[in-house]
Amino acid sequence: MSTSEQKTIYLKDYTVPEFLISKTELHFDLSADKTLVNSRLNIYRNPDCKKTNPDLVLMGEELTLIDLKVDGERLHPEHYTLDDKTLTIHNPSARFVLEISNHINPSTNTALSGLYKSNTMLCTQCEAEGFRRITWFLDRPDVMSIFSVTMVADKDEYPVLLSNGNRTGSPNIALADNKHAARWHDPFPKPSYLFALVAGDLACLKDSFTTCSGREVALEVYVEEHDLDKTSHAMQSLKNAMRWDEQAFGREYDLDIYMIVAVSHFNMGAMENKGLNIFNTKYVLASEKTATDADFENVEAVIGHEYFHNWSGNRVTCRDWFQLSLKEGFTVFRDQQFTAHQTSEAVKRIKDVNMLRTHQFAEDAGPLSHPIRPSSFVEINNFYTLTIYEKGAEVVRMLHTLLGETGFRKGCDLYFERYDGQAVTTEDFVTALEDANNANFEQFKQWYSQAGTPTVTVTTSYNQNEKTYTVSFEQHNNSPSTQADKEPLVIPIRLGLLDDNGKELNLHGEQTSTVLELTKAEQSFTFTDINTEPTPSILRGFSAPIKLQQTLSIEQKIHLFQHDKDAFNRWEAGQNCLSYFIFKTIDAIQNHHKVPPLPDELVGTFRAILQQPLADLAYQSLLLSLPSKAYLAEQMSTIDIDALYQAHRIVKQTLASSLQDLWLAHYHANHHVGAGTDSQSIAQRSFKNLCLDYLMALETDEVRSMCIQQFETARNMTDQIAALAELSHLDTSINVSYFDAFYQQWKNEDLVIDKWFALQACSETTDALHSVKKLTQHPDFDMKTPNRVRSVIGAFATANPLHFNAIDGSGYEFVADNILLLDSINPQVAARLANSLSHWKKFDSTRQQLIKAQLSRIQAHTPLSKDVSEIVSRSLT
Ligand code: ARG
Ligand code: ZN
Repeated sequence: MSTSEQKTIYLKDYTVPEFLISKTELHFDLSADKTLVNSRLNIYRNPDCKKTNPDLVLMGEELTLIDLKVDGERLHPEHYTLDDKTLTIHNPSARFVLEISNHINPSTNTALSGLYKSNTMLCTQCEAEGFRRITWFLDRPDVMSIFSVTMVADKDEYPVLLSNGNRTGSPNIALADNKHAARWHDPFPKPSYLFALVAGDLACLKDSFTTCSGREVALEVYVEEHDLDKTSHAMQSLKNAMRWDEQAFGREYDLDIYMIVAVSHFNMGAMENKGLNIFNTKYVLASEKTATDADFENVEAVIGHEYFHNWSGNRVTCRDWFQLSLKEGFTVFRDQQFTAHQTSEAVKRIKDVNMLRTHQFAEDAGPLSHPIRPSSFVEINNFYTLTIYEKGAEVVRMLHTLLGETGFRKGCDLYFERYDGQAVTTEDFVTALEDANNANFEQFKQWYSQAGTPTVTVTTSYNQNEKTYTVSFEQHNNSPSTQADKEPLVIPIRLGLLDDNGKELNLHGEQTSTVLELTKAEQSFTFTDINTEPTPSILRGFSAPIKLQQTLSIEQKIHLFQHDKDAFNRWEAGQNCLSYFIFKTIDAIQNHHKVPPLPDELVGTFRAILQQPLADLAYQSLLLSLPSKAYLAEQMSTIDIDALYQAHRIVKQTLASSLQDLWLAHYHANHHVGAGTDSQSIAQRSFKNLCLDYLMALETDEVRSMCIQQFETARNMTDQIAALAELSHLDTSINVSYFDAFYQQWKNEDLVIDKWFALQACSETTDALHSVKKLTQHPDFDMKTPNRVRSVIGAFATANPLHFNAIDGSGYEFVADNILLLDSINPQVAARLANSLSHWKKFDSTRQQLIKAQLSRIQAHTPLSKDVSEIVSRSLT
């Protein structure tokens, strides 16, 4: 047990708040080292609370109390108690006004929770429990209040003063001492986690949006002056998101103004504060010169995500933090649909499933596994996980699949209408979908409480005489951390059948694809009038977050790879073929056997796809990509990193050399595309850079010069980074000059320098760890800037498995050293890094011991934040 206190909070202990706050008036006198906060709260006893605790207990951390008044009278010290986490008012009356004055220090707030300083601006992050670092409050999401805010600050230092809602009174009122004031009022009741303020000398891009009912909304994107030229994509993305939410979900925006502020120091991606979103610069700033095509897509997705929260999160919020997936899973599903609509449905689905299966499946198979609605936690910030977000979105997607587009929309309409202005549970969400559709999701709800990735095994049989085809399923949940009394889940399985010519069979009348609802541990479905034995295409579109086990012959896999009409399953079939050969190659390496050749049909299919460019070139690039090493690693019971790297390389080299002429021809055919962020140019770049990646596996001087040429003449970041990423794996003595040149070119662009750090941290060259250690000494490295920490230590720990898992333990030791250094600065980011040490069970016993030794060393350290302490203790179980 570590020294830091580990108080576990349980869902079963939830009780309604004893007091509520109808009105919250906040007055800030802002300055970087000493901000004065005056709050005036209208508090009353909750009539719905049965408990009769006479005292009011408010939460507060790192605050200096100045004054306390009840109904205008200074409170005598014997009527309250103060400790480092709470302020207790003894026996207040049923309804009263509480006035609190306190000081806070934004400039020493390196945890970046509450009010903090980022470069020259002041900003807030309150989710999950940051508001209590601003002033004492009932800092829990089921206490919703109407907020009014007055901000006073120096006119020159902080000309821009922003908070939630609409501006009230005249614009910034001049005051004595070169100060000015701004007032804001938010008419919608909100929990404290959605409060925000920003003060700074900021540049602004302005625009407007007319909603479906004809209201005009002012749109404002605030950034540091030198970044103003990188804001137009964010603005366009916001307008796209606002229009899409009206069209796809019937949701209209509700305030007169919508603001986005980009800050350089941010623990996560972005935050949906009511009317005033605060973003990591990484998800706002984009220009073709400085941002890759992937960055552009991420900006639009995150802007969409935070915008969609205005309904799924803000208008209807969470009752308690166990319900986090209510807003996050649903909002991720909504942003996925948005991106699919803006780009390519097939490509978006493949990217999301790739991420889910590589990282969320790994999380769910390890000691940190938890259900999308956890039943307990120590530190809520540790639960902003891939499971809550990505698996949460998959669960919403299954409900969408089961109800169909129209039924799902009807359910969402009812959900928003019924619970508007309330703090609710995941149960309420499912109930609304049931009620609107007369459906019963009682059994489906298991998905909210069961951890782990279920495995579904499929067997098929064809009856020649009866002309019937039977598909049988068996489901198992092998999660390490789930209870014994597991019930079978409801698993929607989308399926189609192909004949020998690759034609789709009709299943029910005209339909060629159908959704089977698996509800039992074992279940069979029989199709009639099937004239010859078909090839089954199962789990189309990845209709459930499961591991599918099915024995298809290599011929059947290739058949699907050539013909499947379902874009996801066609891609999946190709990946299955390739994975199969990579695993066979690993086996051969481990047993010192001869490496198996790739079958001619597989190479032939690759050739055919390369020779016949598809309409969706981005999808075509994915069809031709190898499964990632990380995805393959997740499927190995014991990860053999060295064999995996070797085998991956061998298969890549085989495809590279067998199809060399085609890769080269396509490289040149698409290389002329310099600029343009239209989907065709983006797709051409991704295809071209895939060709480059295969060609580089040939290790010829000719290809290397081509890559160097691309690096040196690139007119956009996508091409420049793609080339530098290839060069990064060459010997340090060769690549150093390109990294130097890149640094000189981009040293004034923080987000580009993050890429420069990350590429070096991910290098496969033998002295990678030595270079990474040197990077942490670089003048541009800073432990107080989360993006930097993530681009060096984070990238090394999560994206350089070769060196992180070095057999001498040096990688683990380096990461553990930095977790400890970071813990005293920023526990949230430190805890994030500590996640990388949780996968020890997947390694050989030598590495297991090495990782556990580092976890124990961290656990024994004092002081240790509860954030890191919770992650290491759970990791060690
Ligand atoms: N609600 C934010 C989102 O859009 C995440 C913010 C979480 N921040 C934190 N420190 N836990 O996903
Ligand atoms: Zn979110």
